[in-house]
Amino acid sequence: MNPNKALWEKGDFTRIAETMRGSGESLVEDLGISEGQKVLDLGCGDGTTALPAARRGADVLGVDIASNLVEAGNRRAEREGLDNCRFEEGDASDLNGLADQTFDVVVSIFGAMFAPRPFDVAKEMVRVTRSGGTVVMGNWIPNDPTLVAQILRISAAYSPPPPEGFISPMTWGVEDNVLERFGSAGVPAERISFKRDTYTFESPTSPSSLLEAFRTYYGPTMNAFDAAESDGRHADLQNELETLFNEQNTSSSPDETSIPATFLRVTVAVP
Ligand SMILES: C[S@@+](CC[C@H](N)C(=O)[O-])C[C@H]1O[C@@H](n2cnc3c(N)ncnc32)[C@H](O)[C@@H]1O
Repeated sequence: MNPNKALWEKGDFTRIAETMRGSGESLVEDLGISEGQKVLDLGCGDGTTALPAARRGADVLGVDIASNLVEAGNRRAEREGLDNCRFEEGDASDLNGLADQTFDVVVSIFGAMFAPRPFDVAKEMVRVTRSGGTVVMGNWIPNDPTLVAQILRISAAYSPPPPEGFISPMTWGVEDNVLERFGSAGVPAERISFKRDTYTFESPTSPSSLLEAFRTYYGPTMNAFDAAESDGRHADLQNELETLFNEQNTSSSPDETSIPATFLRVTVAVP
């Protein structure tokens, strides 16, 4: 089984995605996605950005490697009666079923960054975007002090070293890497812009309960706990993450969580 697919089919990412809906809606509004545009949401999960784009009248395809998330996305679209939004399985490193220059906007929020072979990912995103269209990526930033970068840093410290040749997804949060990858896909640096942006994780539960959701449903955290358990360090991992979640919570109510997390927003104007 493809380990990239196995990681995201493990658990149930929809439980985490539920805490990210507000930020997904704000982002889509900010992108100005409009009626009739053809939008690809790549690494779409269960449609945190795909559904708001479809509600604005765009014709949306969500592509994700995890079959459970594709099913969940299709169920959400059906429940809302959005027949302009469909989800299918695919790999961001090889979008072989999609024709060149199909989409006005390709958006990938914390999605394509997790695919292997980043140069192929950049090439594929550019290939399926029409000339004059836009690619937008949201990428977590290595060593950033906010939530997700820290979860991934702490989790890595409790996990076995990655296989030889593995390229960390976090490298997508470094501007020079992004320029090099899109550069090799034929996009000059002046057509690529960067901005620091924020997603806020919001939950009507305590920070410790939100951590419990990550421990139970979020593949990368589940794997870290599996590894920590096998060498007797799971209590240390739990403590480090409890401290992180509680320190980062900005809600004044002890039974609610609101944690802002910084990411690199990449905008590519496709030539
Ligand atoms: C952190 S989740 C983000 C999901 C969604 N974009 C959102 O904002 O909620 C990462 C997503 O990327 C997907 N993914 C990981 N590797 C992928 C690949 N090679 N091709 C397509 N999707 C991938 C996962 O299945 C998962 O749905």
